Amino acid sequence: MTRRKMIVSGGLGFLGSEIAKNFFQEFDITIIDNLSTNVLTIDDLARICGEISYKNMDLANMSEEDKIWLNTELKDTTIFCHFAAAVGVKKIDQSPRDAIINENKINHDLLQLLAKFKTRLIFASSSEVYGNQEDCKEEQSLQIGSPDTLRWGYACNKLMTEFLIKSHEIPHIILRLFNVTGPGQSPEYGMVIPKMVRDAKRDGRIQIFGDGKQTRAFCHVKDLISAMKYLINEDRFDNQTINIGNDKNRVTIEELATQIKLTLDKSIKIEKIPFNHEYSKNSKDILKRSPNIEKLKSFYTPKVTLQEIIKDIVQGCDE
Ligand SMILES: NC(=O)c1ccc[n+]([C@@H]2O[C@H](COP(=O)([O-])OP(=O)(O)OC[C@H]3O[C@@H](n4cnc5c(N)ncnc54)[C@H](O)[C@@H]3O)[C@@H](O)[C@H]2O)c1
Repeated sequence: MTRRKMIVSGGLGFLGSEIAKNFFQEFDITIIDNLSTNVLTIDDLARICGEISYKNMDLANMSEEDKIWLNTELKDTTIFCHFAAAVGVKKIDQSPRDAIINENKINHDLLQLLAKFKTRLIFASSSEVYGNQEDCKEEQSLQIGSPDTLRWGYACNKLMTEFLIKSHEIPHIILRLFNVTGPGQSPEYGMVIPKMVRDAKRDGRIQIFGDGKQTRAFCHVKDLISAMKYLINEDRFDNQTINIGNDKNRVTIEELATQIKLTLDKSIKIEKIPFNHEYSKNSKDILKRSPNIEKLKSFYTPKVTLQEIIKDIVQGCDE
């Protein structure tokens, strides 16, 4: 039997590389990445997955040759996992324009090709599309902040990509991801647990931006992968949107810092820093965000606890 083929865009990033590591036995995998925020090299990945195809390509600036290559690849591709994007509150704050343009330009060429071949698409959208809303149910109306605060460009990008996927009639599953984390996630660009763990180990201190009362719910990447294993091999949720997160791991940032401190070393200092000392006026902190995962739970219940997530990231962090 011929093996199915999967393309993973952003496949050298945190989530994309986990997809490659967990699906290479089932699929022939091709990675596309432009090495802008990758956490692995293709050689790192090949040591885990064996020989793996790789195309160093900027999806936002495809040459004619790139388009021809992708056109040929898509002819026999079963599934395209689209995980390439400019990611992270800090990265978006530093260069909001680049992040917005990146997604916009990727959409321009990529989605037309996916539509042409009707390639089944898994798209990594984000909980950011829920804006400041506390209730985050897939079908509800959305309310995103003003364009005067540029961070909302990331949410609008993700939402516009969702609209474009649907309007191009590409067979799809949209995953709205809520703080998916784990060992291997970069501490740069504002990913909270890897940053707190790295800072605690390296500098003996953990920084909290704001009063620490803001809440988040963290989900281990293993749970995302388990949910994807189901979704990829079934068609029950095709052309739907699904929140992926873990509502049991909801915590204030202050409690999170304390748990990390207790896991590592009680002498670590926790410092509170005004949000606007770290982030520009283009950023705005979200006070509460917790996934509504009723739909996810109809086929998969996330299992990894917050304590296990912290331990796993601590073990994987080499400062
Ligand atoms: N981790 C989370 O909790 C989370 C939450 C919401 C959404 N997401 C989405 O999941 C996806 C993956 O996130 P991640 O955490 O793995 O981030 P990441 O930064 O580790 O991975 C993104 C990868 O995409 C590549 N890339 C960026 N622009 C590209 C381009 N124009 N052409 C080719 N490659 C490009 C980068 O080099 C990087 O390797 C992103 O779309 C992100 O928006 C993640």
